[in-house]
Amino acid sequence: AQQCLPDFERLDCWPEPNASEQACRARGCTWCEAEIDGRNVPWCYLPESYGYKIEGDVRTTPNGFSLTLKRNTTISYFGNDANTLNFDAEFQSNTRLRIKITDGTPRFEVPIEIGAASGGNTDPLYEVQTSNSPVFSFKVVRKSTGAVLFDTSVGGFTFSNQFLQIATRLPTKNLYGIGENEQHSFRHKFDQYYTWPLYARDQPPSYNANMYGVHPRYTVLEEDGSAHGVVIVNSNAQEFITIPSPALLYRTIGGILDIYFFFGPTPENVVEQYTEAVGRAPIPPYWALGFHLSKYGYDELERMKGAVDRTAAAGIPQDVQYGDIDIMDRQLDFTVGARFSGLPAYVKELKAKGVKFVTILDPCISIGEPAGSYRPYELGNQMDVWMKRIDGTPVLGKVWPEDPVHFPDYSKNSTREWWITLIKEFKSLIDYDGLWIDMNEPANFVNGDRDEGCSQNSINNPPYVPGIWGGNLADKTACADHQIEKGSQYDTHNLYGWLESEPTRAGTLAANPGKRSFVLSRSTFIGSGKWVSHWLGDNFSQWDNMRYSIIGMLQFNQFGIPFVGADICGFINPTNATMCQRWQELGAFYPYSRNHNAIGTPEQDPAIWGPEVAESSRKALEIRYTILPYLYTLFHLHNTRGTTVARALWHEFPTDATAAGVDDQFLLGPGFLVSPVLEEGITSRDAYIPNARWFDYRAGTETFVRGRTVNLNAPRDYIPLHVRGGIIYPTQEPALNTVLSRLNPMGLIVALDDNDRSEGILYYDDGESLDSYESGKYYLARYIYENGNLETIVEHDGYSFMSTLKFQTVRLLGSNASRVSVNGKEIHMTKSAGGEILLSNLNLPANKPFQITFA
Ligand code: GLC
Repeated sequence: AQQCLPDFERLDCWPEPNASEQACRARGCTWCEAEIDGRNVPWCYLPESYGYKIEGDVRTTPNGFSLTLKRNTTISYFGNDANTLNFDAEFQSNTRLRIKITDGTPRFEVPIEIGAASGGNTDPLYEVQTSNSPVFSFKVVRKSTGAVLFDTSVGGFTFSNQFLQIATRLPTKNLYGIGENEQHSFRHKFDQYYTWPLYARDQPPSYNANMYGVHPRYTVLEEDGSAHGVVIVNSNAQEFITIPSPALLYRTIGGILDIYFFFGPTPENVVEQYTEAVGRAPIPPYWALGFHLSKYGYDELERMKGAVDRTAAAGIPQDVQYGDIDIMDRQLDFTVGARFSGLPAYVKELKAKGVKFVTILDPCISIGEPAGSYRPYELGNQMDVWMKRIDGTPVLGKVWPEDPVHFPDYSKNSTREWWITLIKEFKSLIDYDGLWIDMNEPANFVNGDRDEGCSQNSINNPPYVPGIWGGNLADKTACADHQIEKGSQYDTHNLYGWLESEPTRAGTLAANPGKRSFVLSRSTFIGSGKWVSHWLGDNFSQWDNMRYSIIGMLQFNQFGIPFVGADICGFINPTNATMCQRWQELGAFYPYSRNHNAIGTPEQDPAIWGPEVAESSRKALEIRYTILPYLYTLFHLHNTRGTTVARALWHEFPTDATAAGVDDQFLLGPGFLVSPVLEEGITSRDAYIPNARWFDYRAGTETFVRGRTVNLNAPRDYIPLHVRGGIIYPTQEPALNTVLSRLNPMGLIVALDDNDRSEGILYYDDGESLDSYESGKYYLARYIYENGNLETIVEHDGYSFMSTLKFQTVRLLGSNASRVSVNGKEIHMTKSAGGEILLSNLNLPANKPFQITFA
């Protein structure tokens, strides 16, 4: 009998449809039936000797080395293989490596700016080893542990014109990331071969689907708790395949192989290093951290007003109201329709109360308006801003407007100018505070060009199409051979939303000089976080989608887009009171907290369900507003250091094997643990409490269990929340919106660790100026509790308003002190049955250092 390679170590030699033994052997590959059924095991697979050989000597370069590779096989998937390749290893820093493989011909490269790496490269955490037997392969090794992080000796390496492939063995099965798709466990599964296609698509969350954004980016948690991250900077249609051995296969149909490694060693270090390379999110306006309310299909202004009034009447905080495309005149960008003619005045009214307004823009511009009447189209023609067919005429698509549309080419300077001009002018029509850019995959309701479809050629019909939905590059979008200045859709499709993001941000900055920008984008790519926030798209009002939202949120935090959340209560289909109640409780702790739903479904704002849901939504959001200074500080820390805001448990407890698999709970920053109820009809849940000292957020009682799963009580109006000892959380009393809450008394929650120590940070500024940090107009303090002393260290006192705020309360958790003095003077304290010590009415100016001593 023939010797077959074990099922779970095979690299597919027939990735396209219709594998047969004959075709497989004709290609030069091995055919061997799988022993196991139903696990997507390839029957046709590559021999071990497939690939390239090193030719000549290793050449040293200023920061590494390079090699020449020669093709050493007669097997070809689809022809046009490169005969000679250049392999370049650049040791960019001690924690960052770049491997770039090119064929020496001009090929598409992503026009992204990668930030310089800090820290020097004299003592790298890694080494790169190459081998030439049986063919060329390389290994990336972590020096401290010897762990082999990347190892291409698994085979399969291919570099042809329209099919590039590289595979690596993985050091563990703790693989996270690869986006956008959250419909799986956060830690990927390896029980079979799974394909995760990436190609921007107007696609609600579905197992196996390529969704709105493209993030060829993963993290692996290693055996000893170290972590590393990898990003492949490529914007073609592509896919990752998990192989059970474990290994990971990557395929793309264009561009080059440009791979960056980030060596941590902590999981947070990996994100810091990644965002140093691709860019970090600016601190959001403070109001944007409040609760947002939205609906597609209010249909008329009165219904929008009704939702806002209901919310306020129920005492539920709201900072932002949205207007979707139904506020437009016949869904035409930059217009306000007759049914909403009162909206501009209403927006002014809202703003007087402290509520902001965000509205939507789609990239598609209608061409059907009477000549001279629709400026976005006319000016666009004048400035020649459209995506083009191969013959130079503008592409015609069909999206929301009745008539056909053109798609702007955001890679052009003139388009950038055109878009900024329109965004500025729009501000005088309606005084919006932020913009929401949607349908920017770009979405199209017909495949390819509305009138011409797509021609038959090797760009529109490449020899291999990754496992994307629809199986065709033009499915629900433009043709692959449609052109923007920076290249064809074939190469740039995945950059469409990314290219729109910077000009939109620039437009909002120009419309609101000196103020921070808020832009929410559906489609994102590597580095989008520096311009936009993201919501997880058109989710379903289903319990499982609520659960997947946590995975999406954690992934985007690893992708450097920390300002992220899902549509609370679900977008598609009607939700119901119990689901919406639980979702409001969870969504109160998304970094980006917005309730949004689809047209034709009943309204689902938190107050519409009656007193029970309204009350529990209010209570959860009041906790969010209470910890806003902590949340805001997390965004500051992201911006200055690159750390995550919503954080997986294993980012804080990387050596804990149980934490590595937890994806139905999450942390905000290092210490605020959220354990939501994600199933219908239950009032308690099992939750994992990692090994640290923890306290119940509300009662202040010590949890006492650690490193174990416990059953937590969770009545319908209650979401379990814990604070980790060792961290000081700055707080401020909630109010109906942040304009009001920012005037309220502040406080500290001091949770002690096993050594009775605790430490925290507060960053605070006016919440809206673009340059608060850069111009020094901020307040930054560290709080330290040690040996019974709570002290403030003011690091920067540049925000004058801070002197009018007062610290009124301190909650001390985990201490058995019985006396307290403030700045030397003994005061009264209360101790709850659960052991929390509460100091109130402290009246300490928030910007002055204070010392509180407990004994
Ligand atoms: C898309 C968006 C959704 C929006 C709708 C109408 O489906 O994802 O959020 O409400 O378009 O604009």
